[in-house]
Amino acid sequence: MSTESTLERPGFERDLLGRLAKRWGDRVAVKKDELDLDGHFDPAMPDFPAHLVPVLELPGAERLDQDARARILAASWIAYNAKTAAIEDEIILPACRLMLTGRLPVRGDAVAVSALHQTIIDEHYHILMCHNAVGVTRRRRGLENIEFDPAGWSVVRGLEESRSGTSGFERDLVEIAFSLAAETTISGFLSTLATAQDIQPMNRITTDLHRRDESGHAVVFRELCGSLYRGLEKGPQELFRDALVRGLTAFRAADFDPWVAVAAEGGFEIGPDDLAAWARNRPVPARDTGPLHLLLDDLGISHDLVDMTESRKRRDVRAH
Ligand SMILES: [Fe+2]
Ligand SMILES: [Fe+2]
Repeated sequence: MSTESTLERPGFERDLLGRLAKRWGDRVAVKKDELDLDGHFDPAMPDFPAHLVPVLELPGAERLDQDARARILAASWIAYNAKTAAIEDEIILPACRLMLTGRLPVRGDAVAVSALHQTIIDEHYHILMCHNAVGVTRRRRGLENIEFDPAGWSVVRGLEESRSGTSGFERDLVEIAFSLAAETTISGFLSTLATAQDIQPMNRITTDLHRRDESGHAVVFRELCGSLYRGLEKGPQELFRDALVRGLTAFRAADFDPWVAVAAEGGFEIGPDDLAAWARNRPVPARDTGPLHLLLDDLGISHDLVDMTESRKRRDVRAH
């Protein structure tokens, strides 16, 4: 049965997931003309907002010249995309495929299957968008060699730590909970750049295209993970909530090693400890908890979970 005929069946108009899946072709980035990346590249503009680069707040950064700062900003943009692609590839795509296996009691009707395949296509296209945009930055800024280990980001390490010692059904639940944390958080992560003023237009537009797709994914994940969570027994529900808190906390955790590589591109020698000390002395940044509250309401979980992630975050920053 084609996606179109599946989505034409009676009852789907009342179904949020069905409505979303049916409009997929009209709204997502992969169905639009490709952006003229070079046409939106302005060599005079900085590639990343300086206030989002912790390296530039460390002692000694004030002595960097314009060229070194510009290289650090360009490397920051490359790092940002490497992190985005790692989240897609290591956390979200495996969870989408897992939900398609039938191993979990997640909604599995034709609409749910369509929505998952659509999401997989979107996420893979986002990786390609990151790759293409970064390719332009590498070429135009002469930064061909900087690379980041996909397993090196705090959030990917957080998933690895959380699923270590688990297997089978428990491991599956941890992976789904992390992907739900990702899809609840990624819009905020992308918005910081999609709404940034006075940065490279190519970077802002690419990130904004991605962010628009993510507003649909947040609904897909709330619907599917909600169906899963509500069908679990008390024990697995507790495990899922704990993994969700860990995931939400891991998404807010600072990265250290990648910033050392970014600084090196501007000839600025720092170590991970410098960044850890900086993170310890900085107040925990405020965040938009709206998407998280929506999710918790959908799952029927108390908003206290937000407070749990806040206190865990404070504890983790102190422990670093
Ligand atoms: Fe994405
Ligand atoms: Fe997504």
